[in-house]
Amino acid sequence: MKIFADTADIAAVERLAQSGLIDGVTTNPTLIARTGRPIATVIKEIAGLVDGPVSAEVAGTEFDKMMCEADILRKLASNICVKLPLTLEGLRACQRLSSEGCETNVTLCFTANQALLAAKAGATYISSFVGRLDDIGLDGIDVLRDIRLIYGNYSGLNTQILAASLRTPNHVLAAARVGADAATMPPDVIDKLAGHPLTTSGLEMFMQDWAATGQSILPR
Ligand code: E4P
Repeated sequence: MKIFADTADIAAVERLAQSGLIDGVTTNPTLIARTGRPIATVIKEIAGLVDGPVSAEVAGTEFDKMMCEADILRKLASNICVKLPLTLEGLRACQRLSSEGCETNVTLCFTANQALLAAKAGATYISSFVGRLDDIGLDGIDVLRDIRLIYGNYSGLNTQILAASLRTPNHVLAAARVGADAATMPPDVIDKLAGHPLTTSGLEMFMQDWAATGQSILPR
């Protein structure tokens, strides 16, 4: 499963890129707004830090405006994936951009039927939001499971399922269990995936025991 960092925080992207663990970055208008900086600057900086796709979202809601914005965003770097809302206008833009060979990420997907349409429109990724469904008492993982099933039923649907709006390590585990192709999550969730109290205490014990030997693996 690909792991994307869901952030526009340059320092966080830099740190995670150095770890070699992330396959790309996703952003959205809210994350860009939090930086207080121009979108073009932020996206260019992020795109220079990772080889994989950097999702940059259009802000328009009408086809013509989305296409003009997409044109600007895709020229910012060679690894830009244009993010479009899951509306009929957004799907039309997705269809056009995909036919031009531009990577697309259709966002704000909450049902498997929406995901079916995004795949028909040739989306590279469908961002299925888990946390926001859980927030209103529905089951975001069920939707991911349905999308996996439906995409598996038809050989022509090549869209990758991107589990989004993941808030906890349990969300990530559940997304991996149902076979999401990719998962995007905030940097702190990526950090939590690596941590376990027994890892921490075990390492402490190993270090203490090692220090007591007085040895050094490196030449002194
Ligand atoms: C996905 O691309 C979105 O940017 C993100 O995952 C939304 O997460 P949230 O619901 O926690 O805001």
